[in-house]
Amino acid sequence: PARPRVLSGIQPTADSFHLGNYLGAVRHWVALQDTHDAFYCVVDLHAITAGHDAKTLRQRSRTAAAQLLAVGLDPERCALFVQSQVPEHAQLAWILSCVTGFGEASRMTQFKDKSQKQGSDRASVGLFTYPILQAADILLYQADAVPVGEDQRQHLELTRDLAQRFNTSFGRTFTVPAAHIVRDTAKITDLQDPTAKMSKSSSSPAGIINLLEEPARSAKKIRSAVTDTGREIVFDAEAKPGIANLLTIYSALTGRSIDDLVAAYAGKGYGDLKKDLGEVVVEFVRPVQERTRSYLDDPAQLDKLLAQGAEKARAVAARTLATTYERVGF
Ligand code: ADP
Ligand code: NA
Repeated sequence: PARPRVLSGIQPTADSFHLGNYLGAVRHWVALQDTHDAFYCVVDLHAITAGHDAKTLRQRSRTAAAQLLAVGLDPERCALFVQSQVPEHAQLAWILSCVTGFGEASRMTQFKDKSQKQGSDRASVGLFTYPILQAADILLYQADAVPVGEDQRQHLELTRDLAQRFNTSFGRTFTVPAAHIVRDTAKITDLQDPTAKMSKSSSSPAGIINLLEEPARSAKKIRSAVTDTGREIVFDAEAKPGIANLLTIYSALTGRSIDDLVAAYAGKGYGDLKKDLGEVVVEFVRPVQERTRSYLDDPAQLDKLLAQGAEKARAVAARTLATTYERVGF
């Protein structure tokens, strides 16, 4: 039987992915390669919805792809591509925008949040229609499942609604995707504010571990992480969010269970945990950085890999778009 298909994308909106992106998302993409027919894209079309610089975007898209390869996406086992190289995404988005209600789109809370931050007159129409482009990303590949975080649930619901509505109006065209909620999706929190999620838009750089920053700097950030004034190392996300976050990162990077770690640190102090975790993080990022660098140092090879990924993606996307065009009367 054919493997279920998954589609996921990540925006090239920072110079480096952070540990939250890796542990909360990309790590699972790597695992899904062996059980699913996996399509992964660097969503550069999404990255221009809030203002950008062309040269920076081009560099970030390449660096994003290089990092994805460096952490274990294998072009032999998945389709890894850059969204703008597959024009069908924008083409399908137009058609879907014509079956999306204005009120329906207006109810997307992420747009409300982001446009409020930008000032609602300055927010682009692209930011408003972003979830429709996201629906196109997914429906083009007839994805059965979409690995998403909680924050994307509403957009995925819209995708399902649009697929169903289109199928009802024009005939069965799209697979209606399910959310693929990864069982142990670790939510990584900010090292300086352990009640907030680690995010590229965090106020303090000391709160974020960037995969491409100097490893010694990452270790220092771990050692300086905000923790409570107690002494006991136990996992309690409510009362000890800082320690819980460090244990979560430790467990995810080493594969050791939280219980095992708690037992191993019985009678030891926060300083011991932080020092050891700092070393674990350094050991993890070093080879990732080396591999990222080697992909970036050979631009021709990286271009070739991405062109091959785009070709694989287009083989599926073009078929879906052709059917869609036919259904709507083009
Ligand atoms: P950011 O919050 O830094 O802007 P994005 O929204 O671009 O990150 O997220 C890209 C992916 O990484 C998404 O799948 C998201 O769920 C995941 N992710 C981001 N931050 C975290 C975090 N702190 N913990 C777990 N997953 C995260
Ligand atoms: Na975000």
